[in-house]
Parts: sequence; C-alpha cells; structure tokens
Amino acid sequence: MQELKRIEQDVVGRIAQAQSTAELNALRSDIMGKRGPVAQALKGLGKLDADARRSAGEAINAVKAALGAAFTEAEGRFAAQDAEAAAQKASVDVTLPGRRTISGAPHPLRLVEARVLEVLGTLGFRLAQGPLVEHEWYNFEALNISEEHPARDMQDTFFVADQLVLRTHTSNVQVRTMTAKTPPVRIVAPGMVFRNDPVDATHSPAFHQLEALWIDERVTFADLKGVLRTVLMHLFGADAAPRFRPSYFPFTEPSAEIDVSCVACSGPSRSTCRVCKGTGWVEILGAGMVDPNVLAAVGYDPERVQGFAFGMGLERIAMLSYGIDDIRLLYENDQRFLDQFAPRGGLKRAKER
Ligand code: PHE
Repeated sequence: MQELKRIEQDVVGRIAQAQSTAELNALRSDIMGKRGPVAQALKGLGKLDADARRSAGEAINAVKAALGAAFTEAEGRFAAQDAEAAAQKASVDVTLPGRRTISGAPHPLRLVEARVLEVLGTLGFRLAQGPLVEHEWYNFEALNISEEHPARDMQDTFFVADQLVLRTHTSNVQVRTMTAKTPPVRIVAPGMVFRNDPVDATHSPAFHQLEALWIDERVTFADLKGVLRTVLMHLFGADAAPRFRPSYFPFTEPSAEIDVSCVACSGPSRSTCRVCKGTGWVEILGAGMVDPNVLAAVGYDPERVQGFAFGMGLERIAMLSYGIDDIRLLYENDQRFLDQFAPRGGLKRAKER
C-alpha cells in the first residue's frame, strides 16, 4: 500500500508537469493500463485473506479514482491548445484559386451518330447490334459475296482465324437480325468496322459505319428514297439534294450510291475544291433493295417480303458536317480539336475563367 501511495504522489507530480495531451495519454496508459501498477496491485489482492482483501481493495480503488480524476482534470488544461491545433490543420486558404472542372465534350462521331439515330428513330428504326469479330458467313456468304469476290481478299480484310474476320461492314447486322427475327424488321446498326487500309488523310483501318434495314411486305425503292431524303435533310439541311447514282453491291439489287451536293464549295471555288474534286458532289453512302439471295439465305421468302438497306460511313459525314479535312483528327484525342465540340459555354467558359 505504501508503494502504491508513493506511486500516486509521483504520478500526480508528473501529471502536473505534462506539456501536452499526447504526454498525458502516454502516462495514463502506463499507469492505468493492464500492466500498470494499479492493475498489478489489484491482481495481488488474491493472495490476501478476506478482511485484508477488503481494506486493500478499497484503498487501491481510492488511488485509482484519485488518479483518474487527476488525469481528467489535467486534460482540461490542454483543451484550448488542442482545439487551436485542430483548427490550424483543418483551415482553408480561401484566397487560393479554385480547381477547374473540365466538362468534356461529345466526340464528333458520336454527335453524327446521335443525329442519324434521332431521325431514324422517329421513322420507326430500332437499334440493333452485331459482333465485331464475325464469321465469314455473316460478313460475306449470306450477303451474296462469293468466295471469288475481291472484298474477300486478304488485302482488304483482317482475318483473325480460319473463317473469322474483323467485320468489314455493318451489313453483318442485317444477317444477324434477319436470322434471329421474322419479318417485319426495321433496324439501325451503328458500329466499328475494319479494313486492311494504310492510314492517310481519308483512310483508317478501323472506322465507323451505320447500317439501316427495312424489310416488310411492301417496302419499295420509293421508301428508300423518302427515308434517305429525310435523313440527309436532317444532317445537311433542307437544301441538301441527294443524287442517286446506279451502282453495284452483291447484296442489293438494284443498288445505288448516294451523293450530296458539296457543302464545302459553290460557284467559282468549285474547280479547286478538295472535298468534291470539282464535281460539286460528294459520295456519302451505299444503298439498294435487298437482294433476293440474301433474303433466301436468312430463311425469308423473297416472294413475300422485300425491302431496302443502306450503309454510311460516319467519319465521312462528320468530316463533311464540320469541315474536318483529315480523318486522323478524329482518333488522336487532341483536346484542342475535341474542345470545339463542347456544348456552348461548357469547356470554353471553364478555360476563360
Ligand atoms: N456495306 C456497304 C459498304 O460497306 C454499304 C452498303 C450497305 C451498301 C447496305 C448497300 C446496302 O460499302
């Protein structure tokens, strides 16, 4: 008990000398912790007989309570000091400039895609998708593209494995949809396509197309013209008169290529125009009435249903719409280029601030 009293006095002195909450806490866990003198003394009680144990226990508990009170009282001394330190740590320099948030901008290809989906959506075309790595049957055979066709050449097509190619056009989605669904079908399928072309100002080995297909009992070439006219007016304005030129695709008959009047030039500048090469017209898509062989390949009855398909290159449309003269700008992710497509007041304003 004397030892404990001595310790109590010693600790009370050290509490008085403590300079901070941290020192105080260290001292408290030394003295009051499981291995400290108070706990040790309480452990020793077991060796005493009942009477001695009661009086010693009371004495130890009195020391314990006195030290506890001394610690609590001492903590108060540092309250103001601790509060100030905490405030210092949490303080904010309100004069620092704020961090700018960059709001980003939709990619021009996405803008074009959205515009085409929007207008075709109002005409009842529903979104469809197909795989990028495709079996030759869906990419070629079912589309009436024979083994000997130049498009099947290794030069134009990326072969992944035996009979597996990177799709060369979105027309595989025609086949995917028709093999899975009975007519009528009216779908639009945007997506990436791949051709073994070297990169230059107008070519990229990976680019984007958008396919549309409408099959029903009475879908005619007139419907194709009407739908295309609507789409092209939506994209290029009411003056954009589409021109239909007879053409050939293995999977459509008859086939047409569609041009729009050149948006880059008019009048005297025409002869030197880089976009239309002086012709006044720019080719933007391929189209036609779905060949009966294709309908038969997917199990449709060509005597009962018919319809049209068209496919357009989204890069082409974006370049024409926004006056972009090099396709590579669309893939380089140069922020100075992409910023220009930010909604008005978005990115620009953030920069000027
Ligand atoms: N798939 C053709 C191409 O890639 C485009 C096309 C689609 C033509 C549908 C006719 C009908 O060139």
